[in-house]
Formats: sequence, C-alpha cells, structure tokens
Amino acid sequence: MPGQSKSTIRCQGIRPEDRPFNAEQIRQDFPNLHVRASNQPLVYLDNAATTHKPAAVIEAIVQFYTTSNANIHRAVHALGRCATDAYEQSRAKIQAFIGAREPEEIIFVRGATEATNLVAQCIGMHHVSRGDEILVTEMEHHSNIVPWQMLCERTGAVLKHVPVTEEGELCIESFSNLLSSRTKLVAVAHVSNAIGTINPVEKIVELAHGCGAVVIVDGAQAMPHLRVNVEALGCDFYAFSGHKMFGPTGIGVLWGKREWLEQLPPYQGGGEMVQSVSFDRAEYAKLPHRLEAGTPNIAGAIGLGAAVEYLSRIDFDALRKHEADLLQAARAGIAGIPGVKVLGMAEVSVPIISFTIDGMGAHDIASILDQNGIAVRSGHHCAQPLLRRFGCEEMVRASFAFYNLREEVDVFVAGVEEASTAAMS
Ligand code: ALA
Repeated sequence: MPGQSKSTIRCQGIRPEDRPFNAEQIRQDFPNLHVRASNQPLVYLDNAATTHKPAAVIEAIVQFYTTSNANIHRAVHALGRCATDAYEQSRAKIQAFIGAREPEEIIFVRGATEATNLVAQCIGMHHVSRGDEILVTEMEHHSNIVPWQMLCERTGAVLKHVPVTEEGELCIESFSNLLSSRTKLVAVAHVSNAIGTINPVEKIVELAHGCGAVVIVDGAQAMPHLRVNVEALGCDFYAFSGHKMFGPTGIGVLWGKREWLEQLPPYQGGGEMVQSVSFDRAEYAKLPHRLEAGTPNIAGAIGLGAAVEYLSRIDFDALRKHEADLLQAARAGIAGIPGVKVLGMAEVSVPIISFTIDGMGAHDIASILDQNGIAVRSGHHCAQPLLRRFGCEEMVRASFAFYNLREEVDVFVAGVEEASTAAMS
C-alpha cells in the first residue's frame, strides 16, 4: 500500500535536533497553503474549522483509488485483501498514535459528531434513566450538547452544565459541586473550538470517576495540537475527526475502553456488523466491526492513517512552543487595537483567538480580512452558549496550526487594524 512519498521523506527530517520548529519546511508538505486568495498570498487561519492536508495524505488516497480500490472484509481476491490490509493498518496506526490498548478499541465513524451520537444513542438505552444527570460544560461545541439533550428527552435525564470563568477556563469548583451520585455521564471538550482553552481532562476524569460517572472527551480540537494518550487521560471514550488533524473529511474515530465498547448495543444494523442473520435473529460480530455497519469510508480511513503517520514524525514539544509563540504574538498584536475585545484568554490554550470589534459585525470583519487573503471564521462557531456567556451572538475566530508562520500573525494584526479603522470611520 501507499509507499513513502516525497513529502513523508521530507517530514522524516523533523526530529528533536531540528528545533526550533521549522514551519517553513513543514509548509512545503501542504500544497493548498501555496494558493492565492483574493489576489494575495493565502494566510489560512481557519484551522479549527478544517486543516489542510499534507501531500502524503492526498497521495495515499489517490494511490488507494488508482491501485487498490475494492471493498473490505468481504472478498478473497487480491484487491480486496490489499484494501482490507490498508484499512486495518490505519486502525493499528491510530491505536499506536493515541496510546490505545488494542486496535479493536478504534471505531471508525464519520467524525467527532458521529462518535458522540454513537455513545449518546447506545449508552442511553442501558446506562441513563429518569432523574439521572448528564454534565457538560458551557464551552462545548453544539455537537457535544445536542446529542445529550436528545438523550435527556428520550430518557427523562437532566442536562447540567459547568460554568466558564471570565478568562475562559472551566470553573473546577463548580464542576466538583455539580457532580453527585446522580451524574451518569460527563461530556467535555479537551480543547474549546471557540477560544482554545485546554481543559484539565485528567482532573475532570478523576473527579467524575470518583462519583461513578462515565467520561467522554471531545478531542476534535486537541488532536492537531497535543500528543494525546487516551490511557494517560483515563477517560472512557475519546472522539475526534480526521479533517481537523490534517486528514480527510468524512472520517473520524471513537475510541472507547473495550469494557465499555462491549457493553454498547450496535449503533446501526446492516452488513459487516453481524456474524449470522436469520429472519428470527441476528448474531452480532465482534468489535470493532459490530459498531461499523455498512461499507465504511475506506479511502478516508487510509488517508487518516497517512495523517497519523505524518504526525507521528512531528516533534510535539517543538510544535507546542511554536504554537505558543504564534498565540502570544497574536494576542499581544491585537490587544491594543481600538474597539477590539478578545474573548477568553486562558493560560493553558492552543492558538485559537476569538474577538469582536465595536461597531462592526463579525462577517464584515471577516470580509475585510478576506480581502487581505486572510481566512478566518465568523459567526457563532457552533458554541452559542459560550458566546452568550461572553455577551455576544457572533465573533471572529483566528485559529492557527503548526504550519502557520510568525509573519502571518503580522498580516493578521494589520488586517484587524484595518477593520478597526473602518469600524470607527
Ligand atoms: N467545529 C468546526 C469549527 O469549530 C466546524 O469551526
């Protein structure tokens, strides 16, 4: 299957001795970073929405479709075996990358949203009933709120939320106070998609487990920035999306401890999730296939395997330092600009910065930035409870990745200055 591409060979050069982090070199691996936008060099700061893909990922997908395309787990023919091997190798690469105990704990899904819905739907039937409580936080993405609301509607359970401080951090004391023997499940983002706060997941797990609650972590925004080890975090489930970690769209992972996954009833019925079927009954397949009904996103899984292989060669300590420099420069750069308000300034954070400018709507600010080639997200960021906590309905978000350059921060700050001047005129 996909052999070593030029870009993976280049990437092998990124070792601890190459510090400081060489973002210029990394960028050579990402073809889409070199396009022009609005007639300017692209400054891509919408990485929390989706990241760009290294050539190694694109090549892995092209190679699958050009040399090995077949369905998996069904055929004895050569192409079928090749496709199955590549798909299962991806599962093993992801298992190793996140420190899971076994590949069977890796369930391929469409993304973090589907992973959360899978747990909400399957766990609800056995584990949650009337009067029980589900605890989320005020900084959750809608995809980590709505599935739990739906579960509460079905079961009569109650949804509670942990407040966020002015700095954009979780109020751990409130979290502790909200936990009780009624709390059946805690669902928390590892990293906020809107303001970048890194939550103390180990502490949250320790407190939640102390009350007997199951913990599911939304890791969608953590995976591109942190070297995640699910066993070290101690949670029960961890969900993430491929496209936010330099892999393809339409593929993601639900990791769960085997003992939990085995308790989940099948999520969907169909081919591949069964061992035998009669008109009286179906005997379900073992993990992971029991939770992967139908033909999966084979190319997507292979592409995600390539992304994980790529990330495995990155020195995350150097990456974290580089990203901290970007965040610090961006925060300092826009702090004094007239009318700018930055929302959430957590000390422990990934490089995501959200702000408003007095007298100008978020989409207008984003349009001015776009005219300068700068891509940001404007709107509610699928985190309306958090925005309302900060007293706004919309904001602008600049989200950086390891391939962003210090010079791009300067372009961004100049763009915000231009928007501020326009807002005041
Ligand atoms: N969840 C993505 C974001 O935060 C789409 O932009």
